[in-house]
Amino acid sequence: MVKASVQSDIKDPGLAKEGVLKVEWAAREMPVLRILRERFAKDKPLKGLRVSGCLHVTTETANLAITLREAGAEVALCASNPLSTQDDVAAALVREWGIATFAIKGEDVNTYYKHVRQALEQRPNITLDDGADLVTALHTDQQALRENVIGGTEETTTGVIRLKSMAREGKLRYPIVAVNDAETKHLFDNRYGTGQSTLDGIIRATNVLLAAKNVVVAGYGWCGRGVASRARGMGSQVIVTEINPIRALEAVMDGFRVMPMDDAARIGDIFITVTGNSRVVDKRHLETMKDGAILANSGHFNVEINIEALEAMTETKRTMRSMVEEYRLMDGRRLYLLGEGRLINLAAAEGHPSSVMDMSFANQALAVTYLATEARSLKPDVYPVPADMDMEIGRLKLQSMGIALDTLSQDQQRYLSSWQQGT
Ligand code: ADE
Repeated sequence: MVKASVQSDIKDPGLAKEGVLKVEWAAREMPVLRILRERFAKDKPLKGLRVSGCLHVTTETANLAITLREAGAEVALCASNPLSTQDDVAAALVREWGIATFAIKGEDVNTYYKHVRQALEQRPNITLDDGADLVTALHTDQQALRENVIGGTEETTTGVIRLKSMAREGKLRYPIVAVNDAETKHLFDNRYGTGQSTLDGIIRATNVLLAAKNVVVAGYGWCGRGVASRARGMGSQVIVTEINPIRALEAVMDGFRVMPMDDAARIGDIFITVTGNSRVVDKRHLETMKDGAILANSGHFNVEINIEALEAMTETKRTMRSMVEEYRLMDGRRLYLLGEGRLINLAAAEGHPSSVMDMSFANQALAVTYLATEARSLKPDVYPVPADMDMEIGRLKLQSMGIALDTLSQDQQRYLSSWQQGT
């Protein structure tokens, strides 16, 4: 199906054929989304609604967009990061599925925001965000495009933090479902997805051996836990840095060395930031790092490594390979920054594997249908994914893996809801 009229700004429509095959390949690993798609194709729960999404334009996002379209929505997409777009997938979305797409890998920041505006120009009823840039645009310079919005969803920890801050300040104007906070999202996507895809990005960019390297993981949230565990699995000596005493304690008891970044900076061969905070690797850390240290970020924004300080300390710069920039410092040391400090799993690899995105995007799809019926009765605030939806996704995923569960007997149900029986 080629829709000549669909609006788009993509790299090359000629890449569509390759993109279609990749989207189909990803669909094999997305059985829960497939079940929802079949259900939606019959019921059309989004009929007449316009949905604008600011998401990483990947094969998995394409499957989500197609699912929402099957449900009856008009869908427009822009990227949620300048480096994460898969150009062949963007082409396939436009040429094969007629989905308005505004995203080009490597776009500059002005083009990024132009694309955000273009995705909003269809005047959406529902927004999908990954990092809250769409919501922020609709609450600042694009307020005129907000008039039809009834609700939105947010995919990631950083976005949920931003939106909760907007809600606390009384600035948020419509309800948001925090998809990130669903258990079938962050326990799997953030942990196993980020764990695997971050190392995948570092390996594709550098081809370095991880065994025996000192890998410093900054942050022991769900993403950090995943990265640390996978790096250990590859034979790395993993050091964790944290600001939260309970998380630090957990990292120690999980068997990792924990120390301040000031100490880790001198030891690390590879640094991976996954904190969601800014300047976690700061000037004073860059000053003590070993010659040849590699710096990568897998947090949402490119603020975790102080790149301005790195630039200021630098005498000369060379691009060694795609996504690998060598900074030769004035003292002669060389530091290597991967993917401009942007999320390395999407910049240098393909993001999380489809099998975890299956659950994340099943949450997105169900959250959108929930908003379609419930948003008008919700005040502007940040809401969890309803627990029954979360459970249903877990159940469907297990079913798709051929794994059965036990069920509570009546006796056990009675026991769990009673207090009389003790020692
Ligand atoms: N975020 C992380 N990995 C992703 C993927 N494969 N698709 C969309 N968003 C992602």
